[in-house]
Amino acid sequence: MRVAHSPTEMRQNLASLRRQKTIAFVPTMGNLHDGHMKLIAKARELAEVVVASIYVNPLQFGSGEDFDAYPRTFEEDARRCQASGVDFIFHPECLYARGGPKVTLCVDVALAGRLCGRKRPGHFNGVVTVVNLMFNVVQPDFALFGEKDWQQLLIIRRMVRDLHMPVTIVGVPTQREPDGLAMSSRNRYLTDDERIRAAGLSKALQAVRQAYHDGENDASALLEHGRAVLTEFGIEPEYLEICDEQTLEPLSRLSQDKRPRIFVAARIGKARLIDNMSLCTMEAIGT
Ligand code: PAJ
Repeated sequence: MRVAHSPTEMRQNLASLRRQKTIAFVPTMGNLHDGHMKLIAKARELAEVVVASIYVNPLQFGSGEDFDAYPRTFEEDARRCQASGVDFIFHPECLYARGGPKVTLCVDVALAGRLCGRKRPGHFNGVVTVVNLMFNVVQPDFALFGEKDWQQLLIIRRMVRDLHMPVTIVGVPTQREPDGLAMSSRNRYLTDDERIRAAGLSKALQAVRQAYHDGENDASALLEHGRAVLTEFGIEPEYLEICDEQTLEPLSRLSQDKRPRIFVAARIGKARLIDNMSLCTMEAIGT
């Protein structure tokens, strides 16, 4: 496994390989957990060369967010990458010219203004700008993203489609802790008590899904089931919404053809956590 510290070094490393081999790319901000490792395992299955990036991207953090506090654990991350067959880590010290890039990508508010975008203006512009930049450096055949960040996955799919980028985006299901909590680098901000309460997020989503399967189709009634669970766990959500999973438009009456998905975000102590779940499947999630 090799580590490239700049876009030029990354490009040089891949230059001769890309003519003969397929490349799968897993962009991350590091502090790797089993969710990230699922993406890497899938990348290994899909292509002959696996590139993972580790870069805490300042453009996607708003002022007052956790850019400085974000966990940086490169040595441990590199060990995990090596053990799971990553060929290259792209770990740039700095990606942008001083003062930040003067040309960036912009996501339409119809997608970026919903859910997480309401409280994090500019966040998705920062994500697509860095992902586009990295795609230009790595030029992968496949790029893998987690369903945990559903809105991000959807926006990246849309970027690739709208800008005719020659890469196949692969979504990977959310990896969870035994009690159902979606794995996240931000879970490490939780105290022991907050960690127990955080399980309420996925339990609320499951309660909504169960009520839908029991025949309730009215979104307000379904959301009441979710809110009741959140209250039980002492969680005040930033949002709890049922949306069409392809357009992110909020739904008031549900039907299978609208592809309903439930989304939640909440601050628990210092951590802002998100989760989502399709209402059309019933796979078991946690204890
Ligand atoms: P990061 O939060 O490090 O996540 C990297 C990738 O891992 C994302 O595609 C995310 O959806 C996926 N992931 C995180 N937790 C997961 C889980 N529990 N199960 C499955 N996949 C999970 O997302 C980012 O970084 C950044 O926005 C990035 C795309 C790297 C751009 O800076």
